Amino acid sequence: MKSILVVGSGVAGMTAALEAAEHYDVTLLTKSDLSQSNTRYAQGGIAVVTTEGDSVESHVADTLLAGAGLSDQDAVQLLCEEGPAAFDELIDRGVKFDQVDGHLAHGLEAAHSHARILHAGGDATGAGIAYALIDQVRASKVSVRESTAAVDLVIEDLPDGGHRAVGVTLLNGEVVRADVVILATGGAGQLFPYTTNPEVATGDGVAMALRAGAVVSDLEFYQFHPTSLDAPDNFLISEAVRGEGAVLIDREGKRFMLDIHPDAELAPRDVVARAIAVQMAKQSGVPVRLDCTHLGADFLAKRFPNIDAACRAQGFDWGNEPIPVTPAAHYWMGGIRADEWGRTSIPGLYAVGEVACNGLHGANRLASNSLLEGAVYGTRCIAALADPPPPEHRDAEDCGADWAQPFALDLADHADADNFTRDDLQRLMWEFAGLTRTGDRMLAASRRLAAFSTPRVTDAKSAEDANLLIVSRAVVEMALAREESRGGHYRSDFPATLPAQAHHSSAVQK
Ligand code: FAD
Ligand code: SIN
Repeated sequence: MKSILVVGSGVAGMTAALEAAEHYDVTLLTKSDLSQSNTRYAQGGIAVVTTEGDSVESHVADTLLAGAGLSDQDAVQLLCEEGPAAFDELIDRGVKFDQVDGHLAHGLEAAHSHARILHAGGDATGAGIAYALIDQVRASKVSVRESTAAVDLVIEDLPDGGHRAVGVTLLNGEVVRADVVILATGGAGQLFPYTTNPEVATGDGVAMALRAGAVVSDLEFYQFHPTSLDAPDNFLISEAVRGEGAVLIDREGKRFMLDIHPDAELAPRDVVARAIAVQMAKQSGVPVRLDCTHLGADFLAKRFPNIDAACRAQGFDWGNEPIPVTPAAHYWMGGIRADEWGRTSIPGLYAVGEVACNGLHGANRLASNSLLEGAVYGTRCIAALADPPPPEHRDAEDCGADWAQPFALDLADHADADNFTRDDLQRLMWEFAGLTRTGDRMLAASRRLAAFSTPRVTDAKSAEDANLLIVSRAVVEMALAREESRGGHYRSDFPATLPAQAHHSSAVQK
């Protein structure tokens, strides 16, 4: 029986593991407990076409528009077409989506032209999905290893001159071998000091892939969520709150988004996030505020119970006073280049979920498309193992006109590099490669990052720091190379979006 190793226990990893469990010998590794993932903290919901007034074409059009000219049409079409079946599968697996009068409750989020966001537990959609899948995984034949971090991919040369991923190494030096390795390690919010992501989001999968020579794509595109609570831990204030009618106000109580975009508070995320940052700068750093008071304390507590609790825990009575909000790093559009079956440029290596870049999200992800991506593509990567397999993928050498040929990234330490702290790295990334970028500042960041020495991996923390460093360098190099502004990548020295650059970037480590 073929052996499958899944790394990561978010929606993508657990879906893949459950799909594979019937036919293969499956091991699931996760570096904390099964519940620690971005998935667990997702709030607003999952975007799926489930009403007659809505359509797959409309979901596709909204996703393409949000992607700022860079979303891969095929990948988007697959997501939206296969979304309803993947959603039904989540229900079969025990996820309980909220209902009103016996019908699914539908929420609205920015840049969706229909109210198509299904949620669970009000604002606890991720927890609803994660715990249902965890129950299924625990009841399945999947062999689970918690508190087990993968450190590096094991790639072996083949007699025919090729190579193949055959497993991963762990912190204690153990090698876990498998016929197929599926990376589902999520994002990298911990690149930045202000993030909605939990501590496990340290870019491990992309770092491992870079070290193994895999092609990565679109790393320059990072999405900053406009509204995290301006308090320790940056608790996310879901876009669904703005979808319900909450408005952003400046220090004088004026709605500043009305002057910036016709959709005001429901404009694309990058537009709202940058507008908040600009407004904060005008206010000498004082956060803008989100006014939800007209929605009423009772409604807020019922519709958004977790946000309500989080606000109260920080001393904010959001039903009666506007709350301070600030942008925070949220979602990485870039990742390990993968095709529509999750296949990467290394045979035997698959990437699904936030760690992958199949081009679906383009330069900017549409809200609530990523839980769906995990469910759809977590299923597809197992379908790809069928005999006969689906058609060959577009890899690094054959990636179509929309995918640039990979360029070589120099990610090595400088000769006289010195120790760094995670705090140093995060602040550098926020200030020099955050919401607004310039060539000069990123060149400075590149030099400083090269002067940080890669830590020797002795424990979980040093492994993560080494990963954050290589990933930071790659993000900055790819952001320097894209001399335009598009979606989550905004350069004040190149503010225009250039049609000639409407292609995905690709790179490999030199
Ligand atoms: P994750 O869920 O992040 O899982 C990654 C897993 O890999 C984790 O278990 C982690 O511990 C493990 N891992 C990482 N490195 C290693 C390693 N070296 N070894 C072993 N294991 C490792 N999206 C939506 O669609 N709708 C929403 O409403 C929504 N709200 C969000 C709210 C918040 C606060 C956040 C942070 C994100 C939100 N998102 C939302 C985004 C969405 O949650 C994620 O993009 C999605 O859940 C990613 O799923 P994943 O399975 O790819 O990765
Ligand atoms: C949110 O609830 O605002 C997050 C939704 C998402 O990131 O998709």
